Amino acid sequence: MAKIVVTGAAGFIGSNIVDYWIEKGHEVLSIDDLSSGKIENINPKSQFFKGDICSEKTSKRILEFSPDVICHQAAQISVPYSVSHPYIDAKINILGTIKMIECASKLKAKFLFASTGGAIYGEVTDIATEDTKPCLISPYALSKLTSEEYIKLLSQRSGFKYVILRYSNVYGPRQVPHGEAGVVSIFLENLINKKRSTINVFPEDLDGMVRDYVFVEDVVRANDLALMLDDSGVFNISTGIATKTKEIFLLVLESVRKYGLSIPDDAAIPVYSKARLGDLRRSLLDYSKAKKILKWEPKTDLKKGIDITVKWFLNKRPDM
Ligand SMILES: NC(=O)c1ccc[n+]([C@@H]2O[C@H](COP(=O)([O-])OP(=O)(O)OC[C@H]3O[C@@H](n4cnc5c(N)ncnc54)[C@H](O)[C@@H]3O)[C@@H](O)[C@H]2O)c1
Repeated sequence: MAKIVVTGAAGFIGSNIVDYWIEKGHEVLSIDDLSSGKIENINPKSQFFKGDICSEKTSKRILEFSPDVICHQAAQISVPYSVSHPYIDAKINILGTIKMIECASKLKAKFLFASTGGAIYGEVTDIATEDTKPCLISPYALSKLTSEEYIKLLSQRSGFKYVILRYSNVYGPRQVPHGEAGVVSIFLENLINKKRSTINVFPEDLDGMVRDYVFVEDVVRANDLALMLDDSGVFNISTGIATKTKEIFLLVLESVRKYGLSIPDDAAIPVYSKARLGDLRRSLLDYSKAKKILKWEPKTDLKKGIDITVKWFLNKRPDM
């Protein structure tokens, strides 16, 4: 069994990863500053350290714990926020990541890094592979790619192994509305509160933008396979399936109705609005490399994943 540090352990993806590894019998140190993560997401069977990844105290705690692996999920995750606050984005996402890499270097611990295919490749004409040239249109994308380069460079010098996972749009239980697959929880919250939803569209495609939605359990499994990989590498973690925003809305609507919620017409019919500045028309990632080397494939189709997500959100409501 391994000793593992998971940063961002009170967040959406980090907490799902910790739960899985605790279940498998690993010893986990959960780290989070609770800036957006929730204390109730912290697995009570893990050790918890409340701290900022940029601080010396957090590095000291990690060095004391002396993990075999650091799985770095903590980040400032909002693309619009990175545009309005590039300094804070860079501080957390670049300098904070460098702090975590320094710990991995000192300990010769394996470094797993949550990167983003959705943001790094920018507008995709067909489907992006790991060799597709990055096209950076936000400080968030730049900070994630910069971190990737630091990981590669410092790993050459110190000899720790790394696995960089470029997630597409991740959805599932505990997801937050400002994440890269935010629409799933935004539509869900609107429907639960009987509010009308807005779909942002480009004039040439009124069904919305194309995204690649991957279920959080599949992302957790990718991290687990990365943990076991005896090599370094960069992998897209995605489904390769193009889904438009309107399809997501209809799937969420169908699912909430299936679980017995009555939705008035006002909320069941979305309104359409123009795409926002910086919105991508199409983002789609090829996961063949992960399939070949990590032996990873997504297992949960969108309908099933949305059903699980809707059921989870409905169950956590106090009035249900
Ligand atoms: N959700 C997606 O669709 C998606 C897609 C691509 C990449 N990612 C990446 O996956 C990772 C996890 O994302 P998520 O969706 O779970 O986000 P999240 O916001 O739910 O989790 C991030 C966690 O990091 C914590 N955190 C933020 N700044 C911190 C700091 N300075 N020190 C310590 N903790 C800090 C937050 O409190 C939060 O609990 C992030 O690195 C994100 O960039 C997410």
